Amino acid sequence: MAFDIEMIKKVYERMPARVEAARKLVGRPLTLTEKILYSHLWDGTPATVFERGKSYVDFAPDRVAMQDATAQMALLQFMQAGRPKVAVPSTVHCDHLITAKVGSAEDLHTAEVTNKEVYDFLSSVSNKYGIGFWKPGAGIIHQVVLENYAFPGGMMIGTDSHTVNAGGLGMIAIGVGGADACDVMAGLPWELKFPKLIGVKLTGKLSGWTAPKDVILKVAGILTVKGGTGCIVEYFGEGVTSMSCTGKGTIANMGAEIGATTSTFGYDESMERYLRSTGRADVAELANGVKSHLTADAEVYANPEKYFDQLIEINLDELEPHLNGPFTPDLATPISKIKEVAEANGWPTKIEVGLIGSCTNSSYEDISRAASLAKQVAAKNLKTKAEFTITPGSEQVRYTIERDGFLDTFDQIGAKVFANACGPCIGMWARVGAEKQEKNTIVHSFNRNFAKRADGNPNTFAFVASPELVTALAIAGDLTFNPATDYLTNEKGEKVKLDAPSGDELPTKGFAVEDAGYLAPAEDGSGVQVVVSPTSDRLQLLDPFAAWEGTDLKGLKLLIKAKGKCTTDHISMAGPWLKYRGHLDNISNNMLIGAVNFFNEKTDNVKNQLTGEYGPVPATQRAYKAANIGSIVVGDENYGEGSSREHAAMEPRHLGVRVVLTKSFARIHETNLKKQGMLGVTFANPADYDKIQENDVIDILGLTDFAPGKQLTVVLHHADGTTEQFLVNHTYNEQQIEWFKAGGALNIIRKQAAA
Ligand code: F3S
Repeated sequence: MAFDIEMIKKVYERMPARVEAARKLVGRPLTLTEKILYSHLWDGTPATVFERGKSYVDFAPDRVAMQDATAQMALLQFMQAGRPKVAVPSTVHCDHLITAKVGSAEDLHTAEVTNKEVYDFLSSVSNKYGIGFWKPGAGIIHQVVLENYAFPGGMMIGTDSHTVNAGGLGMIAIGVGGADACDVMAGLPWELKFPKLIGVKLTGKLSGWTAPKDVILKVAGILTVKGGTGCIVEYFGEGVTSMSCTGKGTIANMGAEIGATTSTFGYDESMERYLRSTGRADVAELANGVKSHLTADAEVYANPEKYFDQLIEINLDELEPHLNGPFTPDLATPISKIKEVAEANGWPTKIEVGLIGSCTNSSYEDISRAASLAKQVAAKNLKTKAEFTITPGSEQVRYTIERDGFLDTFDQIGAKVFANACGPCIGMWARVGAEKQEKNTIVHSFNRNFAKRADGNPNTFAFVASPELVTALAIAGDLTFNPATDYLTNEKGEKVKLDAPSGDELPTKGFAVEDAGYLAPAEDGSGVQVVVSPTSDRLQLLDPFAAWEGTDLKGLKLLIKAKGKCTTDHISMAGPWLKYRGHLDNISNNMLIGAVNFFNEKTDNVKNQLTGEYGPVPATQRAYKAANIGSIVVGDENYGEGSSREHAAMEPRHLGVRVVLTKSFARIHETNLKKQGMLGVTFANPADYDKIQENDVIDILGLTDFAPGKQLTVVLHHADGTTEQFLVNHTYNEQQIEWFKAGGALNIIRKQAAA
């Protein structure tokens, strides 16, 4: 349908020469990850050897995908870039803003009414700038991408952490913030630290109750939620080739839960089958033509310990079904141990709800295998003990599973089908009674199970499992039920056992859909009006930030000296604030409200130097802004760690903070500050942090000679009339200094576009 075959052709045409050049340069066989990365360099043919975990490299991704919550700010920024069209194929997917409550049709209608202005904005801006638009109800971003856009050996970025799902079809697909998406759509390079590589060798073959989900649940148990940080995970071995492409997608999807940059798999027959089945025989033909470049060199998988920074081996013949949780996806328990572990920890074992689907697990194979269990309920005179829900990943999957009778089968066990959207996976689940905050257990086939994630109840114990196991456990209503060994008592009082799940990897009659929910953009969007109501409280067009005034910054008031951890969540809180993601002024009312004030140890309580009174951080900053006085934020170590949320840099910029001075920055946040034209500097001597006093007025000197590697000077004017001064470091390169001077990177892009 909407994929870009010409772009894929170009990627494959240039791949052999680039891979060959990289192999020569590096002087050894290459992993698949290296082949894809080296063939997507911004500068073209590889000419430098990059050091894993050290070198920062500019890449040229092939695609951008955005979900509706994060797309708002990404596209508001893109509008500032002054480009008539996006530079690479891009899509928007309306999936995060639909509340699951009554059932698919009604919930979808409610969402269309409640989110009308956001959807109108996203569809009009997509239409104008050549972006494919997937309407609400079309499906979840990652499932739609896998079905339509992902291709072996490609590189994609997406404004959602589970963008990594496309690794199941052999891509390098990475989750980023909206500012990065904006840059790539505007035709700029995208920077990434060259990752370290973790190899996962799968031997044996999945069988019985074990599913691809169990591979990643096991890996999460081994690596924990941080073990993949800065790494790309490459899977290989006989266990990989015998697995479906969508199963690989599930594994890649949950790579986000181990903190991995992404995960990927070499091109194989399962991928070819999936491409053909989803109407992309032409992509399969092209991929077959460059097959050897779409997997690692043979020597790499023969002696993996020589080529990966870390190696894990899992024998699928011995792998058991797992339940991961509660409250964290890396607490892995094999099903045979769950009884004793649950008892030892006092976890509630009665299952209230089983939920299948989501971007992680809603393939045709997943649903058909789960349906094979649901069928046994009637056949064996059983009764399903827990509630059961399904969130299909796309309209194409939903339509096909309805045609093939699976939805009927689920209907017979009393299941509820929610809209093709994120719903309960992202807390958009209006679960009846959740507000009572009762202790209870649910099992789901999603990827995350942090407290409150599904239904907002901190006492919901959520366990992650394969859709097959979720279905079996929902039938049994008991967390400690091991379907491989345990019996159930049916309505006639007989002891019965569930047969192991079975199903089809792909629909034998092929996929079908009536309306996939896709809107192609206008060929020429120049006349398209972008719809944003000036009275909206959810959307606000951006105004360009002002350029630097050309002088040193003097007389800045100290807004806050943050103590200890100050993550992007402390700087720009999520939760209810997410509603305002497309409205910079409104969301700025959460600026730094989570940061701890060094001087009184309180959050959201700082001294207004104009009145001497204490008040919330955003209101205090607004008072400085109204008085036309700049301010400075002082931070501790690793300031801005957490997500790549650009709001954490845009809010202070919007409210008139001029400088962020810290002991150290989390790198992505530091870059985001630079992109927004903010000055981010670090203490040359971290002990100087102690010199900052509550009533300080601060000057930054040296800006008229601002140059790479040249320190700046900070002068503190204390309330007692004394002054102190010290040096601060910065990491601005020539280009970033230009961003600072212009008032932000977008101001430069716009100028270039106009030239
Ligand atoms: Fe949506 Fe949950 Fe996936 S929020 S994108 S279904 S991880």
